[in-house]
Amino acid sequence: MSVTKGLDGVLVTESRLSRVDGLAGELTIGGFPLEELAPNATYEEALFLLWEDRLPTGSELSALQTELAALRQLPGPTLEILRAAAAKSLPPMDALRMGADTLTLADPDPADSSPVANQGRAKAIVARVATIVAAYWRLLNGKPVVGPRPDLHHAANYLYMLRGTEAEADEVRGLDTYINSVIDHGMNNSTFTARVIISTGSDMISAVVGAIGSLKGPLHGGAPGPALDMVFELRKRAAASGKSLEAEAEAYVRQTVDAGGRIMGFGHRVYKVRDPRADVLGAAAEKLFKKAGDIQLNKDARAVEQVVLRVLEELKPGRGLKTNVEFYTALVLHGLGFETGLFTPTFAVGRVGGWTAQVLEQIAEAHLIRPGSGYRGELNRKWVPMEQRSGNRKR
Ligand code: ACO
Repeated sequence: MSVTKGLDGVLVTESRLSRVDGLAGELTIGGFPLEELAPNATYEEALFLLWEDRLPTGSELSALQTELAALRQLPGPTLEILRAAAAKSLPPMDALRMGADTLTLADPDPADSSPVANQGRAKAIVARVATIVAAYWRLLNGKPVVGPRPDLHHAANYLYMLRGTEAEADEVRGLDTYINSVIDHGMNNSTFTARVIISTGSDMISAVVGAIGSLKGPLHGGAPGPALDMVFELRKRAAASGKSLEAEAEAYVRQTVDAGGRIMGFGHRVYKVRDPRADVLGAAAEKLFKKAGDIQLNKDARAVEQVVLRVLEELKPGRGLKTNVEFYTALVLHGLGFETGLFTPTFAVGRVGGWTAQVLEQIAEAHLIRPGSGYRGELNRKWVPMEQRSGNRKR
């Protein structure tokens, strides 16, 4: 049997939730091209689409908004854990993982695995993950927690809980576009993790907690912060050296790749052409960038992007290393005034909708995920008593 490392190109299931065409650079979510869905839908509409496989009517949408709004409050012990995490300045993804784990405390009946209970659980998890991230961000920054506002829809409420003031309509639109863009994306690592966990007959909260752990890694959801930090660092270097930003970018890419490193925000396991989310998010970012400094940052980021693409093609020809979602995520979230530490947790605020829908699909599929592995160890070893063992062991 041959081994497919990383399950590269292996299909493990069929899903109606999203389709990623890595060669054409197309993403379909619930039947809609990304470009059609992300800039038009509210996050609640995208959630309804994933959960119910159709767009909601007006009354169904307001019912879902009301239901989610009623589920936003956190149990007391969740807030206590977040306070303890903030006292140790833990990274936000660690605090989110710890906080999400405690949501079992708010579950009306954790032992109930009926479809109705799981649909309710999906809503509660989506509603409360946003509250955990916002509450923790404020605690981490020494600010009092701002409770959720039931009259605001999901994206508007997330911005409100982070800032303590209501956001402008175009900012809410920008955030909706971002969280819709990342809501689901085929069998990515965190989604697979969630499906692996639920496939054992475990519970949805365990599956989401595992997915958060997966998303945290820099090869998955942890890249947007470092991608923007790279642009800031290159601007600093250009200012100090008097060289152009492009020259500094070129030197940086060459040095990093020569040393075996990777340029954050570039390359993708599936996309070998430009990630379609990059353009949707690039357009959303431009609408948010109104201040002169931000307009310049946008220009600089695009200049750096062009250099990275050119030099990666030269140094790694044929690998198809193109701009991925993380690079433009960084610009949109910067346009919303977010600091880099909030980027990956906000990715989770969007992706959690997809995790819950994928978990519901896996429950319906009812098939344990259990791949095999080839064995390359020794066979038929003979037991050696302790006094006869030499210290010269082969590893
Ligand atoms: N910079 C430099 N070289 C790269 C990069 C990069 N960003 N990405 C891949 N390569 C090179 C590898 O070194 C390798 O070179 P080699 O053939 O000489 O050994 C070749 O391209 C193929 O790389 P793989 O690791 O086999 O490709 P894979 O499909 O496994 O990697 C990944 C995908 C992990 C995303 C990778 O491109 C990467 O590390 N990118 C940077 C981190 C990043 O932006 N992550 C976010 C991904 S998007 C998301 O998950 C939401």
